[in-house]
Amino acid sequence: MNEFRSKFLEVYSLLKSELLHDPAFEFTDDSRQWVERMLDYNVPGGKLNRGLSVIDSYKLLKQGGKLTEDEVFLASALGWCIEWLQAYFLILDDIMDNAVTRRGQPCWFRVPKLQVGMVAVNDGTMLRNHISRILKNHFKEKPYYVDLMELFNEVEFQTASGQMIDLITTLEGEKDLSKYSLPLHHRIVQYKTAYYSFYLPVACALLMAGENLENHNDVKNILIDMGTYFQVQDDYLDCFGLPDVIGKIGTDIEDFKCSWLVVKALELSDEKQKSLLHENYGKADTDCVARVKELYKALNLEGVFSEYERKSYEKLLKSIEVHPSDAVQAVLKSFLAKIYKRQK
Ligand code: IPE
Ligand code: IPE
Ligand code: MN
Ligand code: MN
Repeated sequence: MNEFRSKFLEVYSLLKSELLHDPAFEFTDDSRQWVERMLDYNVPGGKLNRGLSVIDSYKLLKQGGKLTEDEVFLASALGWCIEWLQAYFLILDDIMDNAVTRRGQPCWFRVPKLQVGMVAVNDGTMLRNHISRILKNHFKEKPYYVDLMELFNEVEFQTASGQMIDLITTLEGEKDLSKYSLPLHHRIVQYKTAYYSFYLPVACALLMAGENLENHNDVKNILIDMGTYFQVQDDYLDCFGLPDVIGKIGTDIEDFKCSWLVVKALELSDEKQKSLLHENYGKADTDCVARVKELYKALNLEGVFSEYERKSYEKLLKSIEVHPSDAVQAVLKSFLAKIYKRQK
């Protein structure tokens, strides 16, 4: 249990109430209620790894000394900005991936009682704008304010670019499995996942600690590798995870995604198995999906993944341990410990 979790959740309520009373918009009861429900449904219900990592990292950068109330608040606010960004990406990602559930409940655009539908697209835009409002409200006077805004802008751009290449490789007409390779997979996941999920939390903590991000390219590279490992886990869990545990139902096979699993399957298949993949991958039909999953099992992708997991962990640990700063090592090790062998 994270020592900052309850404080972190308190900060959520405070930020929410500020946003619901933003003087730049004349709220009516209806509009305020919509935003409040939208936030409660989409922002706080995940594992909160990204958000909590800002506070954890900041504390470790301060050599583990006790943080002031103000420092905990500011690190929490930045942590929530990342969770807001996450909510924004996930709402749109679920529409684009035609997903069914998220965090154990229907995807936001599918909530029938509220008839959300494509209002969800605007809710995504709203969430993105909330980040700028939070930064303005709490960081405008900080010397690192401009760096913070540029960081969020750049990372959002990288994520949107990653989502773009994730999506356009699946387009009909180009449905050609033979272009799926490890380098393509690596390129997609680096951009769609690693920057915002791993680099961003630590970069926020570094800025708060008065550091110049240009001096920390080594840290960035390790975090990108960690993010790649995290997305391979996500790809694995999409097929082999328990929906009740991961809170979502996998759609990668139906969606013709360039998943780590299909890349590995292609590498390990003989000609007959390859043609089975070509015939069945990327179809919404349940029998086709079942045949792909059967092949994954026959190729022992579970074993291949667990070997990948062990090797990645060792490699990451090695690259962390050559870093000159003990504080930075502690930050990176703590992040790695949060995700190693995760089941959700
Ligand atoms: C899901 O991220 C999206 C990916 C980048 C794979 P998480 O698995 O961290 O989702 P939550 O926020 O904990 O629900
Ligand atoms: C999405 O990756 C990453 C972002 C949301 C930017 P996935 O599409 O694999 O994420 P899940 O599996 O739906 O959570
Ligand atoms: Mn998705
Ligand atoms: Mn996924």
